[in-house]
Amino acid sequence: MRVLVVGGAGYIGSHTVYELIKDHQEVIILDNLSSGYMELVHPEATFYQGDIRNKADVIRVFAKEEIDVVMHFAAKIVVPESVKEPLEYYYNNVEGVRVLLEVMKEFNVKKIVFSSTAAVYGEASGICHEDDPTVPINPYGETKLATEKMIKWVSNAYGFNYVIFRYFNVAGADQSLKIGLMKDQLTHLIPVAIQGIIGLRDHLMIFGDDYPTKDGTCIRDYIHVSDLAYAHVLGAHYLVNGGTSETMNLGSNAGFTVREVAEAVNAIAPLKVVMGPRRDGDPAELVASNDKAKRILNWSPKYNLKDIVQSDYLYRKKISYK
Ligand code: UFG
Repeated sequence: MRVLVVGGAGYIGSHTVYELIKDHQEVIILDNLSSGYMELVHPEATFYQGDIRNKADVIRVFAKEEIDVVMHFAAKIVVPESVKEPLEYYYNNVEGVRVLLEVMKEFNVKKIVFSSTAAVYGEASGICHEDDPTVPINPYGETKLATEKMIKWVSNAYGFNYVIFRYFNVAGADQSLKIGLMKDQLTHLIPVAIQGIIGLRDHLMIFGDDYPTKDGTCIRDYIHVSDLAYAHVLGAHYLVNGGTSETMNLGSNAGFTVREVAEAVNAIAPLKVVMGPRRDGDPAELVASNDKAKRILNWSPKYNLKDIVQSDYLYRKKISYK
C-alpha cells in the first residue's frame, strides 16, 4: 500500500508511520510542522512540508505520488485551547480535512482513515459504544464530530470508504524509544505523573476525588500509542481490501482511576501526589467498548497500563537527558 500520512511528524502520526513501515508499506508524509518534529519523521518515509488548508500544498503531493489510502492526524487537540480559540480549531480541524477531501476526490483517491476522539461522546459516563449519542462539550470534540459527519456525507456523495477511529486516552512510546510524546507543555495524566518521578515536576495534582467512582477519582481507558497505531495499519488493509465504511472505538475495554495510574507510576519511583479541585469538563468515567474493532479488524491491544507507563517513563527519561 502507498499511504499518505497527514500529520506524520506528530505524536500519533509518527507512531503510525513506524507501524506502517514495520508492515512493509510505502509511506508519504505531509506535515506543516506546526506541532510536529522532523526528528519524529521516519527516515524511510517520503516527507513533504505543507499545510492541508492550502490546496496547492495538497495537490503538489497528489500530483507526484500514487496514493492508495490517506490517514489524517493533523488536528489541534488541546481541549482548553479549543474553548479559547474555537475559530482556529474549526479552521484547522474541519477546513483542513475539507480541502484534503476535495483533492482526494479530484485525484480519485477515495479511502481515508480518520482520527477522531472519545470527546465526541461528551459527558457520557461509563462504557461507550459507537452508536451512543454524540454530544461533545467542547469545540475540540465538536470539530471532530463535524469532520466525522463531513466524511460520511462525502462518502455518501462520491463513494469514499472510511474508517473513523475514536481514540480514548493515548500514551506511551515506541519500543525503540526513537519517538514519543515530545511536547514541552504536557497536560495529560501519564506524562505529567512521569515528570513527577524524573525531577521535572514536584508533584502530581489529582483533579478531584469526589467523583462517583470506586476511589473518588476519574476513570479513563488508557491505550498504548503503538497498539493504537497498529489499528491504523489494519484499518488501511481493511479499506484496501474492499471494507465498507465504519466508525470504531480504540480503547482497551478497561478503566483505571487516576489514583491507580498514580500507583502504577509510583511503582517505578516515588511520586508525590497532592489532591486538588475538580478540573472543568471532566466526566467521571470514559471507557471504550472495543468489541467492534476486535470483530471487524481482529485488533486487540497488546500492552497494559504497566507497559504504557513504563514506556512513557523510558522515553521521557531519554529526552530529558538530551
Ligand atoms: N488528571 C489529573 N491531574 C493531571 C492531569 C490529569 O488528575 O495533572 C486527571 C484528569 O482530571 C482526568 C484524567 O486525569 O480525570 C485524565 O486526564 P487527561 O488530561 O490525561 O485526559 P482526558 O481524559 O482529559 O482527555 C483525553 C484526550 C481527549 C480525549 C479523552 C478521551 O485529551 O482528547 O482523553 O478519554 F477525548
